[in-house]
This record gives sequence, C-alpha cells and structure tokens, in this order.
Amino acid sequence: MDALEAILNRRSVRVFKEEKIEKCDIETILKAGLSGPSACNRRPVELLVIEDKETISSILPGRLESKPLLSAPLLIVVAVDTSKAIRRAPLYWAADASASTENMLIAATSLGLGSLWLGVWPQEDKTESVKIALSLPESIVPFSLIAIGKKGDEGEPMWKKDRVDEKIHWEKW
Ligand SMILES: Cc1cc2nc3c(=O)[nH]c(=O)nc-3n(C[C@H](O)[C@H](O)[C@H](O)COP(=O)(O)O)c2cc1C
Repeated sequence: MDALEAILNRRSVRVFKEEKIEKCDIETILKAGLSGPSACNRRPVELLVIEDKETISSILPGRLESKPLLSAPLLIVVAVDTSKAIRRAPLYWAADASASTENMLIAATSLGLGSLWLGVWPQEDKTESVKIALSLPESIVPFSLIAIGKKGDEGEPMWKKDRVDEKIHWEKW
C-alpha cells in the first residue's frame, strides 16, 4: 500500500485478534515513529514497546476509552524526554510526539494492521497513571499509547467526504 492510500484508508480499530505481530513489522513501525520531523531536531521522542498482556492490561485499567487495549497484542508507548525541550517553545515536544504517533498509525495501516491512538498527555491523571504503571523516569512524559494488531473489526466509517469541503478555506476564511 502506498503512503497516500494508507493515509486515506486509516481508521481507528478497537477490536484486535490475539495473533502476535511479526518482529520485522514491529521494527518497521518503530522506524516510522522515529522518522518524523522534530522541532530544532531535538528528537525528544522515545518509544516503549510492550507485548506482555498483563502489562498492557495494567495500563489505565477500568477506563472505558482504554478498553481496546485489552485485546491488543502490541502496545507502543510514545514518550518524550522533556529534558530535551526547547527553551523558547517548551511544549513543541507535543508536536514531535504527535508526528511520531501518526507516522506509526500510517505505517501500521500500510502493513495491513489495525491501530488506535489512545491519548494520555495532557490529561494529568492518565499521564501520572501511565508513568507509575511503567516506572518511567522523572523527565519522561508518556504522550500517547498506540494499540496495534490484526484487525478484529474494520473500524468506524470515515467521516463523510462532503465535510472535507466544509473544512477547507481557499485564499480567505
Ligand atoms: C489525541 C487523541 C486521543 C484519542 N484517545 C482515544 C482513546 O482514549 N480511546 C479511543 O478509543 N480512541 C481514541 N482516539 C481515537 C479517536 O476517537 C478517533 O481518531 C476518532 O474517533 C476518529 O476516527 P478515525 O481515527 O477512525 O478517523 C484518540 C485520538 C486522538 C487524536
């Protein structure tokens, strides 16, 4: 699948098959996650890969919006080393982490896998819970969780195409 096809066909998948993901596919997805743009090239993004079912289900337990984690065979935690923040724009790391997260969703789609972005930062309670569950060092902030697996469903239908036109403003608002 080429990049454009993957971007246009990506959907949030919330039900996964149990099957494990091939190591080479995991490595491709991780490489995509570290290939995004980075403000001032500080490269603050760090990726934590988790396949252990118990660890996956121990992260954000009991939250409805995190339920898809329970069936995912692979979880990638997109984290940020805040000691690499830029002084004049300290929160630019969130843009780096977003680009990294989206790159991995697109890479997973292009490999025929389902994926889901679960938000963590800036929700303080979730950020703290993930930090504690994974014993992250003080300067490391968990930004997002990406659940990946073979699709157990096809995801929700894409938002209506006609709405795309409503969101685009040519030359002036
Ligand atoms: C910052 C962010 C946080 C999200 N958090 C969750 C989440 O916690 N649980 C979930 O099921 N989906 C989550 N999503 C996925 C959105 O619900 C999904 O992208 C949206 O419904 C549009 O569907 P689509 O991804 O299929 O286009 C999140 C998406 C973003 C960008």
